[in-house]
Amino acid sequence: MIGGGAGAGQAQGANPGFARGRRLRSTPALRRLTAQIRVAPADLVLPVFVKEGIDAPVPIGSMPGVVQHTQDSLRKAAHEAAEAGVGGLMLFGIPSGKDPVGSQADAADGVVNVALQHLRADLGDELVLMADLCLCEYTDHGHCGVVTPARGGLRGQGGEFVVDNDPTLDRYAAVAIAQARAGAHLVAPSGMMDGQVAAIRAGLDGAAFTEVPILAYAAKYASGFYGPFREAAEGAPQFGDRSTYQMDPPNADEALREVAQDLAEGADAVMVKPALPYLDIVARVAEAVQVPVSAYQVSGEYAMVEAAAANGWVDRERAILETLVAIRRAGAGQVLTYWAVEAARLLTR
Ligand code: PBG
Repeated sequence: MIGGGAGAGQAQGANPGFARGRRLRSTPALRRLTAQIRVAPADLVLPVFVKEGIDAPVPIGSMPGVVQHTQDSLRKAAHEAAEAGVGGLMLFGIPSGKDPVGSQADAADGVVNVALQHLRADLGDELVLMADLCLCEYTDHGHCGVVTPARGGLRGQGGEFVVDNDPTLDRYAAVAIAQARAGAHLVAPSGMMDGQVAAIRAGLDGAAFTEVPILAYAAKYASGFYGPFREAAEGAPQFGDRSTYQMDPPNADEALREVAQDLAEGADAVMVKPALPYLDIVARVAEAVQVPVSAYQVSGEYAMVEAAAANGWVDRERAILETLVAIRRAGAGQVLTYWAVEAARLLTR
């Protein structure tokens, strides 16, 4: 019997007493129309590595698909990124010579400054050229600042040496000026020294670069997910680790203090890093501030998905796009990701 019994004459279940959430999920077009978060190519920033003294790109074993670029291959990659509609590039340099103070970071002919000149000449203002501002790729000891023998209350790093905050600030200001002079549209201090934003702002303003914004890596955690990057940027600490300057993973309120401090010092935009393991921090920071918030999907996050996909354990493209949606949904406006160009293409196909 059809439609018999109680409710005969009504469509089966027409008023069942529960919400039908499935209605808006029933076709791809409906799902597309009602999606709350969109990821656009322009939201994505591609981190790139340029190395001195090589004549062909060098693949990074722990980051399949990512290379250390030559100046030429970087120029080509930058054109491709612009073509794909990516929002910007974040540049990291690997010099052939390292020393205790990281001289090559602010040398006019230093690898990253040469790259900035080329890219600015090639692309003008088409892409936002961001310079990662740190010393770890440039120092022989691999730390993000200058080091000094341990003294008084300054201890930590392997016992004998410590990373010395205030002398590092002068170095950062000099690096910022060199990067701005070379053509960086924006500088992004990632060293987690106290007072770095104020020092860099004063340095830039003093050199008439008042219009160059600072994107502060404000909440940067001492993370195990930076592992593959250390191979890519050849900047692993030679003693100790970074836990006396980068943030401790259990801390959340401290991230808000770091962000507030960086904004008070003159940061124009702030970043949370890494991204996926810190989405709660991304969300809290995004609620707390009225400036652009970036999140950096770091090398280990990239490597995890690539490794699982290589084993056939996750659907690679689907997983990539889902991570980007998650980071945007948490509240980040911009996402730094090694998949930027590929994702931009997937998003517009
Ligand atoms: C340097 C820097 C690091 C990363 C970005 N800038 C490494 C570190 O802090 O040890 C990590 C990026 C990544 O893992 O993708 N200060």
